[in-house]
Amino acid sequence: MQELFVEGGRRLCGELTIQGSKNGVLPVLAATIVCAGECRIENCPRLSDVDASVAILRHLGCHTQWEGNALLVDTRQMDRAEVPDALMREMRSSVIFLGAILARQGEAALSYPGGCELGPRPIDMHLAALRALGAEIDERGGTLRCRADVLTAAEIVLPLPSVGATENAILAACGAEGTSVIYNAAREPELAELQAFLNAMGAEVRGAGSSVITVAGKRQLHGGTHRVGADRIVEATYLCAAAACGGDIRFKGVDYRQLSTVTAALEEAGCAVTSEGEQISLRSAGVLRAIRPVRTAPYPGFPTDAQPALMAALLCSTGSTVFVENIFENRYRHADELARMGAEIRVAGRVAVVSGVKALHGAAVKSTDLRGGAALVLAGLQAEGETCVSQLEHIDRGYEDVARDLSALGAQIERREKDR
Ligand code: EPU
Repeated sequence: MQELFVEGGRRLCGELTIQGSKNGVLPVLAATIVCAGECRIENCPRLSDVDASVAILRHLGCHTQWEGNALLVDTRQMDRAEVPDALMREMRSSVIFLGAILARQGEAALSYPGGCELGPRPIDMHLAALRALGAEIDERGGTLRCRADVLTAAEIVLPLPSVGATENAILAACGAEGTSVIYNAAREPELAELQAFLNAMGAEVRGAGSSVITVAGKRQLHGGTHRVGADRIVEATYLCAAAACGGDIRFKGVDYRQLSTVTAALEEAGCAVTSEGEQISLRSAGVLRAIRPVRTAPYPGFPTDAQPALMAALLCSTGSTVFVENIFENRYRHADELARMGAEIRVAGRVAVVSGVKALHGAAVKSTDLRGGAALVLAGLQAEGETCVSQLEHIDRGYEDVARDLSALGAQIERREKDR
């Protein structure tokens, strides 16, 4: 079993290219099956969640092939409409295949995704959207069986701007007769990414990035090419790392507007952030101060996925910072692990208060979930002595290679078998 060994105390300097976005590419991969054609997904990140999507595509009868960092998906031979339980369990977000399979095959069967390490992850809004489009859904025995001989356009009002439910609604609406309208849609950049790919395949999706999205269904779709954008959460993670360690870093090919709430928080903590065109730079003396309460919210609010990294960055700040987690119930599991390194964090329900300490010390810690795992790495970069982070399968879901990226910026971090 491999672990990450981090020796703290290095400044981070230099330039980095950020990997393609996990949450951008997953709905795009599901969208490939809405057409029967050949798709080319460029800048596709190498992640275990992408492997899980590829396994589902292959099970459905699609052909996939890597060509450098492009993933080719040929969906012409797709001949199945069901995803077995073992493949569903690999990745919670596999539920976005539901709308896509339904649009293509008129039926879909997959197991109920259940909860995950972040707490209960209901899919009631996904199912309500599909029902509004005319799907009949039977939820017995942990299996979802959906059927729709004909999908018909509808007005879908989401009670919350759920990212996944918006994606599922768009994908299913591509197979519906007429023009559907999704109100209170999620506005995350990943929706614009999905829209761009679907439109490249001949679909007519409008409004992504706003709260109202329209989908003109039943267009003649063909294969398409898409280049996945930079991962804004990976970017946020490394900005937080340099903010905490001190340094001078620059990323190219990114859209800094997507991270405005994160960079504003880092500036408030004492960093200098500059952005121009597709470039963002951060300079930090490595001495941060506490900031006003950080409340996670749907985009364009502060992203829940960046909360653990910012928390890690503020562990040695002067003063106390309050975090309020409004998206997921169980997103402070990294706090106990950080405490093993000397962090002072008090958690009460959705609120966590981080009181800056003078120093952190290296320890053996376990990743609890994807972003929490990244937060442990960030704490290790600041700690005195060696930190050993285990259970890397969580981190591998969303980061191509943290050791590669952070060592390129000058960190002392290595991934290897424990007993070497
Ligand atoms: N919700 C419901 N019912 C539903 C759907 C969602 O109650 O039918 C609730 C959820 O339980 C949650 C809230 O609504 O409390 C928001 O969930 P949302 O549906 O927006 O999240 P998601 O689509 O499941 C995506 C990302 C997450 C990210 C969230 C919020 C992907 C594959 N996942 O999840 O990413 O945190 O949006 O931005 O896009 C991560 O990358 O670490 C990650 C967890």
